[in-house]
Amino acid sequence: MNKKLFEQCPEATLTFDLILPAVQNWLQTHSRSLNDLLSNEANWLLVNRDLNGRVRLILPERIKEGEQRLLWNNLASNLMQCLGKHAYTQNTEILFETNREKALQGATSYLVDGFTNVWMVDRLATEANWARIAPETESVPRIVFFSIKGGVGRSTALAATAWNLAQEGKRVLVLDLDLESPGLSSALLPRERQPMYGITDWLIEDLVDNEEVVFENMVATSNLSHDGEIYVVPAHGADHGEYIAKLGRVWMPKLLANGTREAWSSRLNRLLQGLEERIQPDVVLIDSRSGIDEIASTCITELGANLILFFALEGEQTWNGYRMLFEQWQRAGVARQIRERLQVVGAIVPELDRVGYLTGLREHSYEVFVDTLYDEIAPIKIGDVGRRLDGTWQVGGLSEGWSFDEVDEIAPHHPWAVNWHRSFAGLLSLRGRLAAIDEQEVVSVFGALIDGIRNAVNGSTTS
Ligand SMILES: Nc1ncnc2c1ncn2[C@@H]1O[C@H](COP(=O)(O)OP(=O)(O)OP(=O)(O)O)[C@@H](O)[C@H]1O
Ligand SMILES: [Mg+2]
Repeated sequence: MNKKLFEQCPEATLTFDLILPAVQNWLQTHSRSLNDLLSNEANWLLVNRDLNGRVRLILPERIKEGEQRLLWNNLASNLMQCLGKHAYTQNTEILFETNREKALQGATSYLVDGFTNVWMVDRLATEANWARIAPETESVPRIVFFSIKGGVGRSTALAATAWNLAQEGKRVLVLDLDLESPGLSSALLPRERQPMYGITDWLIEDLVDNEEVVFENMVATSNLSHDGEIYVVPAHGADHGEYIAKLGRVWMPKLLANGTREAWSSRLNRLLQGLEERIQPDVVLIDSRSGIDEIASTCITELGANLILFFALEGEQTWNGYRMLFEQWQRAGVARQIRERLQVVGAIVPELDRVGYLTGLREHSYEVFVDTLYDEIAPIKIGDVGRRLDGTWQVGGLSEGWSFDEVDEIAPHHPWAVNWHRSFAGLLSLRGRLAAIDEQEVVSVFGALIDGIRNAVNGSTTS
């Protein structure tokens, strides 16, 4: 990344984005000495970028008084010389720790290319680094609705999908995790059906081991569907109470009696598991916060989602946003763990020149996927690969790697279209609209999305 820029940049003007190229350059220049030292006294090395964006090395405690201390000091000061204001000062360039886990303190790390025991560690002020990817859940399919920009019809599409799946007899569990801008539950529940509590209340009460009090009263069933059931878990209860005071605490980690710390994302996972055990749904639909946000990061990477829908309006802002996100996965070396669960959704596709619009959307989506997520191989031939019905991919025959042709309809960059429809534009009440809707209308607006989701759901309940 940015190697050229780094080479032109004197260390005095080095800024944050040139830290990683500078570190890479140092690792490459000294790879022989580093590998020698690392097969000797030291068996691991962390290159630590701290909360202020300053870099230093962390090494095993035994190096401190060891024979090779001087060599490490020299190497560290070499690195510091390239880092300008992002370097630690002399005598503080190396930190010593008894073991690697202790040194990490729960921070995310990734192995540096070309080394077997050098890790890059990045400490952020928030827990959201987008790079801790939980494996897919194997029980009930969890589907996350995300968009990089807000107001793109994400919650409307989720409500319509829930309605449709329930009409087909499915038990659908819907979670409003757009905690900062909730609204999904009012689209599905009339006021008198709203439960007493919501997700925010559970997360707050859990901090003081009082979560059971709210667990029984945080789910309501929607009366919109005729056959199956829609179970709605809102962001807050019928009376939102001191919502802002609660919201400011939801992401608190919990200190457990044994002294360990449970991250808020694990607490949320615990809630989700509890709800799934109690309700036994066929599918879980999660309305995530939009943008590069802490809650969105958790919904997408830490809840074990099987299918992650990326709603996209055509435009530079959309694709720059998705590119930023995908590059982070690429850089942290985790893209492979998540890329097969992604699907682009064309949001509110205009009536006018629909085909031209979708072609442009597909083209830009393809550019981002090719640059960041697809392997650099000839695209898999159509027919060689199929999305398994549980939302994962089945690569057949001789295919090595993962890549698609721009026009391949099965590709994750190929948008599932949600059409603009005047009956959904500027609605006063989505619930009123859904109460009067019929299957034909839902299919004409949300058909492609619902078909894709139906495949994902049916696949994993029958496999
Ligand atoms: N298919 C559609 N056709 C026309 N208008 C739509 C459609 N879907 C949603 N809308 C309208 O677009 C607006 C935004 O919809 P919605 O609230 O579902 O978006 P969102 O992405 O969930 O927004 P937020 O990021 O604020 O949660 C609403 O006024 C809604 O009525
Ligand atoms: Mg919404």
